[in-house]
Amino acid sequence: MLRTLLVAFALAVFTLLAHATGGVRLAAQAVPDAPHWAYGYMKPPAAGESAPPCPPVARPFPDCAYPVTPVADDGVKRTLPGTGRSFTRNESYFDYGPADWYPEDHPAMPDVVAKGKQADGVRACALCHYPNGQGKMENGGVAGLPAAYIQQQLADFKSGARRSADPRKANTNEMAQIARRLTDEEAKAAAEYFASMSWRKWVRVVESDQAPRVRATTNGLFLPVAGAPQEPLGQRIIEMPEHPESTELVRDPRSGFVAYVPIGSVAKGEVLVTTGGDGRTARCTLCHGADLKGTATVPGIAGRSASYIVRQLYDMQQGTRQTKTMKAAVAKLTVEDMVSITAYVSSRIP
Ligand code: HEC
Ligand code: HEC
Repeated sequence: MLRTLLVAFALAVFTLLAHATGGVRLAAQAVPDAPHWAYGYMKPPAAGESAPPCPPVARPFPDCAYPVTPVADDGVKRTLPGTGRSFTRNESYFDYGPADWYPEDHPAMPDVVAKGKQADGVRACALCHYPNGQGKMENGGVAGLPAAYIQQQLADFKSGARRSADPRKANTNEMAQIARRLTDEEAKAAAEYFASMSWRKWVRVVESDQAPRVRATTNGLFLPVAGAPQEPLGQRIIEMPEHPESTELVRDPRSGFVAYVPIGSVAKGEVLVTTGGDGRTARCTLCHGADLKGTATVPGIAGRSASYIVRQLYDMQQGTRQTKTMKAAVAKLTVEDMVSITAYVSSRIP
């Protein structure tokens, strides 16, 4: 009851504000400032700055990625709570068979998920999306998505219908390269595998006017700078691992993320998501389900990586991720709306 009242109140305030500003926000340029923080960058791209192109012929190296200076393995076997297994850093990161810390958390992996295809430079899906499909913020979560939806996305990456709006984002290019090098059978096996698991809570949303200072790694993972003072958040979402050490060093697939969002953004987002905000967007719950957990054909969005969700909304608005169904929902959104919508969506429990 209180919640209903609050929503009604928030909606009234929202409507009032929209009128008070004479719809200026609606008329504003849809893309005043790209949310580069959602793509894992500290600042916008410099003129002409972009990821290296993917060569047409496979090389043994994962050739779309920015070359990462190899880290000499210190040989230290590390372990994690609740597993008898131990791996060195480089074993955890092995491109063609990364550490599987908790085999009991998932069904048997198809080969392409567990190992990829070394001869074709296709790195294992488990490297970036984890064996349980929960994934890291710079990649995305694939567990619990409808199998047909996963196959459609792989087809869209392959055809070029799905690209990143940020020209620097090499790992999205690599994802497309991987999709191009999968056989139909491999794509189907991976899709069915990830679809067979359920999505679980992966991001803790914290409303704040400050966030820890972060640095960006090569591939778009943010890590907090130890000992640095907090910084003003502004109209951004800053996401980082809950336990930076275990995510960064050994890719702990049970350790999720924390997303700092602006104060008041969750309530603002709830209004947009559940009502459409007076024509500003489409009511998300109509298609993604009342609890945003998705349906047999529509992907669930509840409790998923905040930076991933902002990237998708922005990519779809820019048209680098083509969509018919989502067009009306994203057309008029400002980056601030995307921040609010995402704050709410990511805070939902899947
Ligand atoms: C090098 C890291 C990497 C590897 C390896 C990788 N992916 Fe991805 N994947 C990504 C990135 C990056 C994205 C897109 C993120 C973005 O643009 O926001 C993505 C997105 C996806 C999506 C879209 C998810 C959604 O919610 O729409 C699917 C499906 C997917 N990957 C499946 C796979 C499969 C299957 C494999 C193995 C055959 C694989 N990926 C291997 C990095 C990777
Ligand atoms: C008319 C139905 C419909 C509405 C309304 C709708 N969506 Fe979607 N959404 C879809 C479908 C279907 C997809 C799958 C991609 C596609 O078909 O383009 C999708 C995809 C997405 C994705 C990408 C998911 C992923 O895993 O990559 C996000 C994020 C998303 N929607 C968020 C929203 C939000 C937030 C709203 C409300 C502001 C919304 N959607 C409203 C149907 C809808």
